[in-house]
Amino acid sequence: VPGPTSLDMARAFRSVRADPLSFLVDVADRYGDLVSFPVPGPPALLLNDPADARHVLQTAARGWGKQTVQYAALARVTGPGLLASSEPSWIEHRRLAAPAFHHERLLAVGEQVAAAVDAAVTARLGRGTGTEVVDVAALTHRIGLDAVGRALFSTDLSGHAQHLLDATSRAAELVVRLGRSILPTAPWLPTRTNVRLRATRRRLDSITGEIIAERRGRRSPRGDHGDDLLGLLLDSGLDDTAVRDELVTMVIAGHETVAGALSWTLMLLAEHQDAQDRLRAELDAHPGPVSLLGHRETLPWTRAVVDESLRLFPPAWALSRRSLGPDVVGGREVPAGTLAIISPWLLHRRGESWPTPLSFRPERFLDPAAARSAYLPFGQGPRLCIGREFALGEMVLVLSRLLREHRLEVPAGWSRPVAQAQVAVHPQGGMPLLVTGVGSE
Ligand code: HEM
Repeated sequence: VPGPTSLDMARAFRSVRADPLSFLVDVADRYGDLVSFPVPGPPALLLNDPADARHVLQTAARGWGKQTVQYAALARVTGPGLLASSEPSWIEHRRLAAPAFHHERLLAVGEQVAAAVDAAVTARLGRGTGTEVVDVAALTHRIGLDAVGRALFSTDLSGHAQHLLDATSRAAELVVRLGRSILPTAPWLPTRTNVRLRATRRRLDSITGEIIAERRGRRSPRGDHGDDLLGLLLDSGLDDTAVRDELVTMVIAGHETVAGALSWTLMLLAEHQDAQDRLRAELDAHPGPVSLLGHRETLPWTRAVVDESLRLFPPAWALSRRSLGPDVVGGREVPAGTLAIISPWLLHRRGESWPTPLSFRPERFLDPAAARSAYLPFGQGPRLCIGREFALGEMVLVLSRLLREHRLEVPAGWSRPVAQAQVAVHPQGGMPLLVTGVGSE
């Protein structure tokens, strides 16, 4: 299998660390759809053919686990929560959490998510009519966190917001650093990263511990802890540590991703005024409240904007799996222990799958019959994102609340922020956009 040599990797060391997204694009351009990285032991392969990705994530999913450096690093913060755990405990956790994401439940929490959006938008932008430069990345982080708190834990996290945002972004940075280090370091060694990681985890422990303790003492008239995710977890008999792992998982997986995705979506709309006008016209034709479900029918353009933005800027830019036994991938036999790296960032930019892949063209998604084999912003197969419908609904809701009353433009002398591959893909240095109250136009 073609791929860079150890010498190539040593030469590229700095650029891999500084900008892994460009490195991946470069490697795929150079070596094609199946790339081998020079590592000791079982092979490490980059799979950039949609059929190979489907094989690992879906068809042969039971033969590929999450025992990878990436997930081991994440588990240092989340413990064996739903995202980082492997079979057999994963299936139990998935069954437990699933009802919190069922359709009826999502319909019921729409108002809480709308309230989270309104609170953040009003606090930051007010209902004024002037024009100002706003870092929309900070705004979307607030919204993402608040929405998770209200919808999944029935908790107002605003008292903890700054601490949680600081702790999760520090945790994300450390997890990425650990995930990229070449030599695994023992977690007990007093390295700088380990010490900082332990401190961050203690901070997250204490905040989530408070939330859990408060809820243990509160029961519904039925005598249980309620229908939201936290209630389900508490009533399942899990101990506090396991509940904490799920809470931290949901806070990180549920707000970092949505916040990053929304920042890029708002940027794309600021850059494409025609798309923004069309979105506002669609909203004007639907003045009522927007729910978390059913947008493909009610707000098809808004939903297509979200889909296209997730194609260009998929927050989960690389997924990893390790084979539990021998398998055949890309026509090659691979041994147990093979590492597979699947990058939605790369697959979404394949010229074979997407004509003019780098252009923002939401109309691609208006045709429901269009083949989208190379589209997996939420993963694929049994480990598909449990928060997919929630996230899509939240994004449409944010766009509807924000763009009804505000126009977005890029500031003078605009150049796009660099896409930084953290736990999710974030705009480096924030996303400053010009925001104008529509009433002043
Ligand atoms: C899993 C992406 C929002 C919770 C995943 C996976 C992806 C993903 C790609 C699969 C990872 C893999 O196969 O290795 C996204 C994106 C989001 C988003 C792009 C937003 C735009 C959310 C939200 C929540 C959430 C809002 C919860 C509130 C989870 C969990 C898993 C997961 C718990 C693990 C599921 C399992 O393995 O059973 N997500 N996610 N995500 N996501 Fe999301």
